[in-house]
Amino acid sequence: MTFGTLAQTRLREIARCSLAGAGVTRLPFTAEHASALAHIRDWMTAAGLQVHMDAAATLVGRLEGPEGGKTLLIGSHQDSVPNGGRYDGIMGVVLACLALEKLKIDNVRLPFAVDVLAFADEEGVRFPTALLGPRTLAGTFDSAVLNLEDPEGVTVGAALAAFGADPTQLVGLARDPTDILCYLEAHIEQGPVLETRNSPLGVVTGICGIERNRIVFTGETGHAGTVPMADRRDALVAASRFIVAVSEIAKQTNSIRATVGEISVHPNAVNAIPDRAALPLEVRSTSDAARANFSAQMREIGAQIASESGLSFQMEQTYKQPAVNCDPTLAKTLASAVKQAGHPLVRLPSGATHDASAMSDLCPIAMLFVRCTRGLSHHPDEHARTEDMNAAVDAIAGFLVSLKTEGTT
Ligand code: GLV
Ligand code: MN
Ligand code: MN
Repeated sequence: MTFGTLAQTRLREIARCSLAGAGVTRLPFTAEHASALAHIRDWMTAAGLQVHMDAAATLVGRLEGPEGGKTLLIGSHQDSVPNGGRYDGIMGVVLACLALEKLKIDNVRLPFAVDVLAFADEEGVRFPTALLGPRTLAGTFDSAVLNLEDPEGVTVGAALAAFGADPTQLVGLARDPTDILCYLEAHIEQGPVLETRNSPLGVVTGICGIERNRIVFTGETGHAGTVPMADRRDALVAASRFIVAVSEIAKQTNSIRATVGEISVHPNAVNAIPDRAALPLEVRSTSDAARANFSAQMREIGAQIASESGLSFQMEQTYKQPAVNCDPTLAKTLASAVKQAGHPLVRLPSGATHDASAMSDLCPIAMLFVRCTRGLSHHPDEHARTEDMNAAVDAIAGFLVSLKTEGTT
């Protein structure tokens, strides 16, 4: 059995730790999360790691290194989006364990310790926040997030405590950057580039920045049958023009991905003119300047659309995460490991965000992408080939061994 086959089998098994329905639904600090941790614990144990769950509900598997040496961190997240796939996040944990299992079988001793990390919450779909685990390690965790609530009114703090973690000890999780070598994350690409380039693996150059804005158009409601068309102050018509402009302008700007994924309309009645349309505008780019320019442009266009129809327009930024670069030296080492494993080298940026983004506040980061079928992700049909995951195990193990060579010369 290859490591790729083992990865596929383990991912099929852990996919059952899910709410009922299509694909995988595994939210943080739930019964599904707890049953997933039992699997991950077994994978870590098989790789010879000492396992514990930390105060942020990150499962940590430690391979001790030489006394006084540094620690390399490697991992990804256990959670999924609702009706997501069986690879996003968790594949990075299983591949990390298998790479260490391979080195154990090959009797390779690394000149540093390794912590494999299975973070609880990267997707941010249960609570209006995400990346709790990596932020606690990086010391960038904001204690105000403990009071944020899920749709049932359960706070992050209460969910952590009920899960057996400890919201009072989060500050103490911050790691000393001088003890840390780097953070490596393997992840499915979640896009079509590697498939198009016919390559199983890719080396990530950087992770996009993200901002979210809350947009509200306010007009006036009225009777759908009596108010003349020319006299209307229809908030949904203005919002529709805005959404089309978002898409058209983003298409002219190569580095921008802009999305309006929701809309809420008032009074939301078939025979009433909408007086309020609220929508989030999410903007991503690997260039923070390009992202800020695009948002400024959309602010002007939204105000213009509103004034043309006698409406008011509000745009408020609700979330911002800067773009981060992967470390060029680590990327070079990872690229050599990919080539050594016999695969062409593709370098590409990430348009999805990852735990690595928050870990970049602690230490240099590297990311390895694995090709995914039809570029599908956040989708029940998300798929990575067995042979590609096998190649990834080889590349991760090769990377760790190269670091060893660098560390000892
Ligand atoms: C998470 O996968 C995101 O990129 O939003
Ligand atoms: Mn992910
Ligand atoms: Mn995801």
